[in-house]
Amino acid sequence: MDWNEFPTPCYIVDEKKLKENLMILRQLEQDTGCHILLAQKAFSMYALYPLIGNYISGTTASGLFEARLGHEEMGKENHVFAPAYKEKDMAELVKLCDHIIFNSFAQYEKHRKTVAAWNSGAEPVRISERGSAPGKDAGAGAKVSVGIRINPECSTQEGHSIYDPCAPGSRLGVTFAEFEKGLAALGMERGTDGAFELPADIEGLHFHTLCEQDADDLLTTFSAFEEKFKLYLGKVKWLNMGGGHHITRPGYQIDRLKELICYVRDTYQLEVYLEPGEAIALNAGYLVTEVCDIVHNGTDILILDASAACHMPDVLEMPYRPPLRGGYPAGEKPYTYRLSSLTCLAGDVIGDYSFEREVHIGDRLVFEDMAIYSMVKNNTFNGIPLPGIMLLTEDGTLHMVKEFGYEDFKGRLS
Ligand SMILES: Cc1ncc(COP(=O)(O)O)c(C=O)c1O
Repeated sequence: MDWNEFPTPCYIVDEKKLKENLMILRQLEQDTGCHILLAQKAFSMYALYPLIGNYISGTTASGLFEARLGHEEMGKENHVFAPAYKEKDMAELVKLCDHIIFNSFAQYEKHRKTVAAWNSGAEPVRISERGSAPGKDAGAGAKVSVGIRINPECSTQEGHSIYDPCAPGSRLGVTFAEFEKGLAALGMERGTDGAFELPADIEGLHFHTLCEQDADDLLTTFSAFEEKFKLYLGKVKWLNMGGGHHITRPGYQIDRLKELICYVRDTYQLEVYLEPGEAIALNAGYLVTEVCDIVHNGTDILILDASAACHMPDVLEMPYRPPLRGGYPAGEKPYTYRLSSLTCLAGDVIGDYSFEREVHIGDRLVFEDMAIYSMVKNNTFNGIPLPGIMLLTEDGTLHMVKEFGYEDFKGRLS
């Protein structure tokens, strides 16, 4: 492909690689009977939702807007979790979602009447707005199944607590002590098995604790969760094990994941949901940028028309170093440069990379693995343009799916 033939900065999503990921996920669904949902927070290129919907069960959302997008553009199963919901949003969410997950018993109590009112008039099978073959519970009009997010209190991540929902003091999920306290406060009785009864409208449990992890960490987490919540697993209909599963990464322990899903389904007769974001579009996108200038201050610094702060904020948040085509660790090859950007932020530095050959003004550089957590997070700080979004189709042709300009910058200001 000629990386010089389109305007920069520009994201390019690679349909072939996306499909390769989707085939792995579809196989997982087929082998285990689990449901895979696209976590839209990672990847919301909705032009591709019809394609993605051909492979997996549906979407999950972090709030009303994503829920609406998933409903409008994929129209299959649609789940939502948010730490709290506003009443006006809940009135919409019940129409859009088939699973709503609450982060506390206070939220459940606040919204249960809205859900019950909807469910009392709802049709049992949803009709997809897009008219694409809806599965059971897909589309609009279905009953809402309610779940509670659990904090299994088991950290398996090292080094970045910003991505660890089990870090001390986390607001995400109900701990076991709070779970039983919440049920007691609702007036539920303890049964002869020692566990509280659950309200009939709580049908599922959810946990999300991982970030870019393998199945052994999920097993560790599930064991910690099962040890505490075993008796409650027998009282619900479904378990959602969140995202953070790097399923489509080469070498991922897929057999362990399959065993765990089958164990949960067989032992507790539960429907199992996974809601990966990264794994859907892992290594399926690029960010192409142009070298606008080269300045010198003890090191050679490239000024790019792409920015970590605007176009790949995870680079600064995680922090991490994005893979660069033809780029190597600093000092490894003859020409080392610091890659930075057009913004005013002194720390808007993507990293130091070395190259086989000298880099010149006007050259194009290609960052890899840029489909996920990129276009969903970008911004127009400094009035820096949003990158265009292109699709590299399977037959090798490039299409501009959307371009952005001054109106997009101005339109979100007043
Ligand atoms: C509740 C929930 N589900 C799913 C995901 C998707 O995670 P990932 O993109 O790492 O697979 C996240 C990510 O933060 C999340 O918070």
